Amino acid sequence: MATMRVRGRVFAWVVALAAPIAIGVWATSGKAPRLPADGDHAVTQAEAKCLGCHLRAGAHPRPVGHPLRDDCFSCHRDHLGVLHPRRGAPTSLPHGWRDDPALAGRAAGGGKGR
Ligand code: HEC
Ligand code: HEC
Repeated sequence: MATMRVRGRVFAWVVALAAPIAIGVWATSGKAPRLPADGDHAVTQAEAKCLGCHLRAGAHPRPVGHPLRDDCFSCHRDHLGVLHPRRGAPTSLPHGWRDDPALAGRAAGGGKGR
């Protein structure tokens, strides 16, 4: 009897500890990661600057599954988690996703059957 009680208590602890982790993973999956807290990622700069490093051949290209939009600040929050959307920011920029073979290919080829 006593061992059953201990097992039940251990199970309760496992659930109590795992639930916040599971919720955290669920809440952040598919979400835009926050911007790093450095000068390159200041929210006051133009989106075209961002593309200088995040274009296909850049230091840190966007993943193939990236949303087909270039208005970075509509989705990516600063390092504190604050969103700084810019009114009227174009969703497609020169050298943006339309000029990125991986992303543009998805726009052209995707849609059908996927
Ligand atoms: C000078 C090059 C450079 C510029 C300019 C730049 N980035 Fe980055 N960015 C990087 C590099 C390198 C990394 C990966 C290393 C890191 O996390 O610091 C990164 C990381 C990121 C990440 C991923 C953070 C994470 O935790 O996974 C996002 C989102 C991002 N940048 C968006 C932007 C946006 C939006 C802009 C424009 C405001 C921008 N970047 C400007 C080089 C740059
Ligand atoms: C519509 C919302 C949206 C817009 C607009 C957007 N992003 Fe993203 N971004 C995301 C999401 C969601 C992810 C995560 C995708 C994934 O994990 O497959 C992401 C991922 C990234 C990453 C990869 C981070 C890593 O850890 O590897 C970079 C870099 C990035 N975005 C840069 C940019 C830049 C630069 C712009 C503007 C030119 C931009 N994003 C515009 C939603 C957006």
